[in-house]
Amino acid sequence: MPALKVAASILSSDFTHLGDEIKKCEDAGADMIHVDVMDGHFVPNISIGHCILEAIRPITKLPIETHLMIDNPGMYVEEFCDLGADIVSIHVECYGQLRAQCDGLGKYPKEIDVLDVERARGDVKKIQNKGKKAFMVINPGTPLCLGDLEKDIDGVLIMSVNPGFSRQKFKPEVLSKIEELRKTFDKDISIDGGVSDKTAPDSVKAGANILATASYFFGSENPSEAVRILKALG
Ligand code: DX5
Ligand code: ZN
Repeated sequence: MPALKVAASILSSDFTHLGDEIKKCEDAGADMIHVDVMDGHFVPNISIGHCILEAIRPITKLPIETHLMIDNPGMYVEEFCDLGADIVSIHVECYGQLRAQCDGLGKYPKEIDVLDVERARGDVKKIQNKGKKAFMVINPGTPLCLGDLEKDIDGVLIMSVNPGFSRQKFKPEVLSKIEELRKTFDKDISIDGGVSDKTAPDSVKAGANILATASYFFGSENPSEAVRILKALG
């Protein structure tokens, strides 16, 4: 299993002092910055996008992961690469027939049963052709559906909450998906949503090696200690 890493998600940071918050991530020993991009269509919330990536790229050497919770991610992946993202994470739910209950405007969470591997591979290649890493993201209600794509991607991000907001409750039922994936996948497996000192141990035991955290990290009075606790699980 690759080395354990902590990704600090700036969704819970103080945007009035974003430069200081990035420095806080560095000083605390976070391994990467996680940027949650939401479009108000794929998820029921609108967050941040290109201009924030552009603003933080020059002020940190930490790798930046952009987690794209947007419809039609293929339209934007190259732009995120050009703006300096090191990892671009795209959702499998954008590449398959949505289940009836979530097919349409304002219906969430987005879930699929079958991935259109060829279509997803096209966008994975766009990212990799820019020299960047491509991760596929899987929502809690969507099964492991990567099939043949496993060998082409650089990592998988397993959502442990339905995407859209920070500070939600961790869904332990996704752990079996990580265990299953880890049997065949020796690259990065990230977990995102409700990660804390309480939920990280089981996540790592299941096979996750990147822990993405927003509220646990930024809500902590001692962010270095929060990172130390998580990294001690590796
Ligand atoms: C949720 C985002 C997560 C979120 C995590 O849609 O993808 O990255 O920021 O927040 P916490 O760690 O508070 O659950
Ligand atoms: Zn995220």
